[in-house]
Amino acid sequence: MSAQREPIGVIGTGYVGLVTAAGFAELGSDVWCVDIDAEKIARLRAGEVPIYEPGLKELLERNAARLHFSTEIGGALEHARLLFVAVGTPPTHSGDADLSAVNAVVAEMPNSGRHALVMKSTVPCGTGATIQRVFGEQGKESLSYVSCPEFLKEGSAVKDFMHPDRVVVGDDDGWAGDAVIALYEPLGAPLVRTDVASAEMIKLAANAFLATKISFINEIANVCEDTGADVIEVARGVGLDERIGPRFLQAGIGYGGSCFTKDVSALKLLAANSGYHFQLLNAVTEVNELQKRRVISKLQRHLGALAGRRIALLGLAFKPETDDLRGASSLVLAARLLAEGAVVSAYDPVAADAAREQMPALDFCDSALAALREADAAVLVTEWRELVELDWSAVAAAMRGDLVVDGRNALDPLRLRGAGLRYEGIGRR
Ligand code: UDX
Repeated sequence: MSAQREPIGVIGTGYVGLVTAAGFAELGSDVWCVDIDAEKIARLRAGEVPIYEPGLKELLERNAARLHFSTEIGGALEHARLLFVAVGTPPTHSGDADLSAVNAVVAEMPNSGRHALVMKSTVPCGTGATIQRVFGEQGKESLSYVSCPEFLKEGSAVKDFMHPDRVVVGDDDGWAGDAVIALYEPLGAPLVRTDVASAEMIKLAANAFLATKISFINEIANVCEDTGADVIEVARGVGLDERIGPRFLQAGIGYGGSCFTKDVSALKLLAANSGYHFQLLNAVTEVNELQKRRVISKLQRHLGALAGRRIALLGLAFKPETDDLRGASSLVLAARLLAEGAVVSAYDPVAADAAREQMPALDFCDSALAALREADAAVLVTEWRELVELDWSAVAAAMRGDLVVDGRNALDPLRLRGAGLRYEGIGRR
């Protein structure tokens, strides 16, 4: 793509870092990637991609000449003035975000008078102000700071980078904010230029709202089950209201992933730390945890006691197109089923390796039909295309029982019933 553009540094080569690096390389920037994980850097230098993300490998290969990988920050500091920080900020036991990796980057920054940190990692509101204060205390007041939160979704991260709904830039109207805006300009997305604290809050509030929307439609689904309504019809009717919108109204067995759970609890804590009780988010979290468990009572209603029953879990990843199990409903569901004495077989096209470590008691199978063999019931946990498009007559023939619980409302009840299977969705008539 286009003429030479502003070179950048990217610190941290996880989902956000690697997609950001590949995206800006595609837009024409030379990118210096840094990660303390020497093994990961070695793999990236060898052209390997350490994460499963559709389209990322092609983007990295196409722009290999513009991408540089190192465990040292020196190259990035020498060649770039904008350093995008995309390190992990996992929750600590208290639920606060662990900022140790962020602080390590701050400590490495020289008082150069020409560099800026551009925060991509999700950080608590107020972090930017703290970092700017630390810059001052460390005699680095010449450094600039920009908050530039990322909204990419796993499984569609490359598309989300290239086609953002908006670009958020939080700064003090300085050169660094201008330079970041210029970098994103080719994407032609709406720009929200604001102060640092508001930019930080936009990220947390956006994720918390999406999680709220999912917990809301899940509760509606639960009421539909007792009132004879169909949540898919309800979501269609509600979603056409442009004040609501159709997206993220897909009822199911709860949201997963590393972001929603973390950001909801970070926002709750942020509020609590300033003496405010964010009641709504308590409910959002509680509803989500209960929703992951509702499948058990559905199975018990049809099968009675689950001890000795063989239950097949179709899909384990927290959503399709990723190998990520963080916060996945499958983890809770599998543990509940085992606790009920059931035998649990499982199949996932991509996440099985990671799952073997976390759920060693499951009977992992190389195909969906193998997992379904002699099963008394099956649960669709992740709506991978290959699972949605299964040959349901073959499924019926393989299973001992005939019950399929559609945990993502992704299946066609008529097709399943046509194959002689009993169908149970989430909030479906
Ligand atoms: C999320 C945000 O969408 C993204 O903007 C942010 O940058 C990171 O966190 P991600 O966690 O990758 O992205 O996945 P997302 O597509 O948001 O799905 C999260 C969970 O919600 C998944 O478990 C998904 O199955 C579930 N979900 C999503 C629903 O249950 N119903 C829906 O309607 C949508």
